[in-house]
Amino acid sequence: ALITLRQLLDHAAEHGYGVPAFNINNMEQGLSIMEAAKACDAPVIIQASRGARQYANDIMLAKMIEALSMIYPDIPLCMHQDHGNNEATCLSAIKHGFTSVMMDGSLEGDGKTPASYEYNVDITKRVADMAHWVGASVEGELGVLGSLETGMGEAEDGHGAEGELSHDQLLTDPDQAADFVARTRVDALAIACGTSHGAYKFTQKPTGETLAMSVIEKIHAKLPDTHLVMHGSSSVPQYLQDLINENGGAMPQTYGVPVEEIERGIKMGVRKVNIDTDNRMAMTGTFRRIAQENPAEFDPRKFLKPAMAEMTKLCKDRFERFGTAGNA
Ligand code: G3H
Ligand code: 13P
Ligand code: NA
Ligand code: ZN
Repeated sequence: ALITLRQLLDHAAEHGYGVPAFNINNMEQGLSIMEAAKACDAPVIIQASRGARQYANDIMLAKMIEALSMIYPDIPLCMHQDHGNNEATCLSAIKHGFTSVMMDGSLEGDGKTPASYEYNVDITKRVADMAHWVGASVEGELGVLGSLETGMGEAEDGHGAEGELSHDQLLTDPDQAADFVARTRVDALAIACGTSHGAYKFTQKPTGETLAMSVIEKIHAKLPDTHLVMHGSSSVPQYLQDLINENGGAMPQTYGVPVEEIERGIKMGVRKVNIDTDNRMAMTGTFRRIAQENPAEFDPRKFLKPAMAEMTKLCKDRFERFGTAGNA
């Protein structure tokens, strides 16, 4: 059944677990997530970026969500707009059946320029008011994602802030977070603590300097009842880097967010954990393996089936480690 982010995260907070929010662009990713949820008896958050909506078409996505909730009637399913950049993106998502939207006002409408605090408050409050009128939930973001190692934004991935950012921009301020939630009335708050989108988050295993979990602890102390969201939470596991590189890939060595750090975050109020990159690597790593092992193969299903199994495996692991399992 379809539920809102608010309903799901209220339950998660009450029972002390976290919920991975997995990105989808196609049917195979949707089915892989639901199969894992069923195996784990876990509620799910499926999210689509603006890019995903352009790729798949809004009607296709809406019908896919309807189909997934019919195929898996016992799994609570929240359908969420990831990184909405303005009112139109958020409202058109709701019109197409999304039960939750992110209004990311940490950046201006171009998705690149860090926004002023007042811009962020104004646009997020406007979206929260409208979404709440029709029963949808809203996630806001305060602080800009980017690397504390280099001070750089995420231009290499094609989205996120470009160029150099100050330490202040890269870490959410706890006092400002309290003011932001009071003024916007968001249901969940995405915070910045040194993670970034994509595979290249850290050049070595992160430390307390480069992955500032202490910021989350401080925000949670100020806002004990606010559901916190960690973006850029792929772990970029070594086995998936190896799967890609042992089968003709050329990804430079990199480090993601260790799952044990996310487990610590969940104890400090993190309820929604955004993961896209890990699932992308699970799927494309498997495509590479099949292509290497059987160069004569040309049936897409022979690539997609095992890729889906690899993605389901990853999703199951996160449902278990985050405590989502058993809460459907
Ligand atoms: O926001 C980041 C997600 O990984 C979505 O990425 O914009 O390439 O679909 P995308
Ligand atoms: P990753 O790139 O770490 O998977 O992060 C995804 C994300 O934050 C989507 O909003
Ligand atoms: Na989001
Ligand atoms: Zn994100």
